[in-house]
Amino acid sequence: MAAKLKTSYFCQNCGYQSAKWMGKCPSCQQWNSFAEEIIAKEDKAKPTWRSEGKQSVAPKPKPIAEIDYTEQPRHITPDKELNRVLGGGIVPGSIVLIGGEPGIGKSTLLLQIALNMPLKVLYISGEESEQQIKMRAERIELPENKSITPATQSECFILTETNTQHIFKHIEQLEPELLIVDSIQTMATSHIESAAGSVSQVRECTAELLRYAKESGTPVFLIGHITKEGTLAGPKVLEHMVDTVLQFEGDRHLTYRILRTIKNRFGSTSELGIYEMRTGGLREVGNPSEILLSQRDDHLSGISIGTTLEGNRPLLIEVQSLVSAATYGTPQRSSTGFDAKRLNMLLAVLEKRGGYRLGTQDVFLNIAGGFRVEDPAIDLAVCLSIVSSYEDIAIPPHTCFAGEVGLGGEIRAVSRIENRIAEAEKLGFRQIFISRYNTKGLEMSRFNMKIHPVAHVGEVIQKLIV
Ligand code: TYD
Ligand code: MG
Repeated sequence: MAAKLKTSYFCQNCGYQSAKWMGKCPSCQQWNSFAEEIIAKEDKAKPTWRSEGKQSVAPKPKPIAEIDYTEQPRHITPDKELNRVLGGGIVPGSIVLIGGEPGIGKSTLLLQIALNMPLKVLYISGEESEQQIKMRAERIELPENKSITPATQSECFILTETNTQHIFKHIEQLEPELLIVDSIQTMATSHIESAAGSVSQVRECTAELLRYAKESGTPVFLIGHITKEGTLAGPKVLEHMVDTVLQFEGDRHLTYRILRTIKNRFGSTSELGIYEMRTGGLREVGNPSEILLSQRDDHLSGISIGTTLEGNRPLLIEVQSLVSAATYGTPQRSSTGFDAKRLNMLLAVLEKRGGYRLGTQDVFLNIAGGFRVEDPAIDLAVCLSIVSSYEDIAIPPHTCFAGEVGLGGEIRAVSRIENRIAEAEKLGFRQIFISRYNTKGLEMSRFNMKIHPVAHVGEVIQKLIV
């Protein structure tokens, strides 16, 4: 037994390393996030995925003009939604992290790709047994008219192993063309002693897989778990190391799933793919408006759709209000998912500038789906939802809004209007009301939907409600 184990403290939230324990992480300000991890066995040489004697030559500086570059074609997957979020297929040698809550369908998605891809795929699982994976594979319905000819028939290999050194031995023999690791939190390298799933393990295993991907040109998919707070478990560091981060999200009680690009070195991050979880696996939803439209058959009053930005991701969100004459004394104001003070301000604007006698009404406002919206671009949707309920006139279908409302009832410009419009268009909306001040530099002809530039809330109400 070694005399003394070398240990270090790691913030389990962001991966910050410290020689001693700390109550608060100086990097991410999280309290109580430090845990001791054994980092002994640090070999002098950097571990490599190749077996001994096949070390690669250390790279030398090279003038950029002399660097040979032939664009390698991307691997186009049979899954159009995945191709889209990746920015047009899988880039050779890239490493993609797919995060999501347990049970959301990460393993199903990647197994489906493994089965459908016309490549030699190695699916490594540290979570399930071979039999379990086979059972899942049998559940997944493969398209009957699969365009894969027998000559390029997909080959899918399953390996249940968690030690990366063993995994690389098999990789050297098998030489897969695509590698899937389910999940990175179950992997462990023998170069580090701490338990699988700890910050240093996750980081080192990812680093090894990264070297493998870059040196061999084989694309690697990593599955990563997500904590309750919605961040990728383990270090944030992971997100910096990989080329692309995708997030698989959705309500487990509903069948729809959204695959979002959070980071992409090879494409845009404003992409999203939509799937439906069926008994026979995940089905791509090519026309996402079917999700929104199915719930909107009855055209209720008081419902409007606004756009918000969540981080840098645009999202369309439903605002519901109920306005009814107050029966007892002081009218009630209640707001879920939206700032109550801001609601009062918007009510005052509607009262003063629009002449709506809301002072005698109970107003209940709710942002659907349990979201909390802070983006002021939702203001216009909130106003329209309130007026729609007050007048009991439904807003026409396929209509959405993006605008901040000022004290004078004027509609102000919002950030990243193009992304919002693009998202609305993708989700099947046909018209959007935006601020007149947002039209500068906006190529309206680029979009297939009708864009209405407006200056005042009254204008929108006139157009849609009275
Ligand atoms: P899974 O891929 O195991 O989730 P993750 O890897 O993200 O934890 O998804 C499991 C869920 O998907 C499970 O609740 C059952 C459901 N499912 C279907 O509805 N249809 C299917 O064809 C398959 C394989 C799973
Ligand atoms: Mg899984």
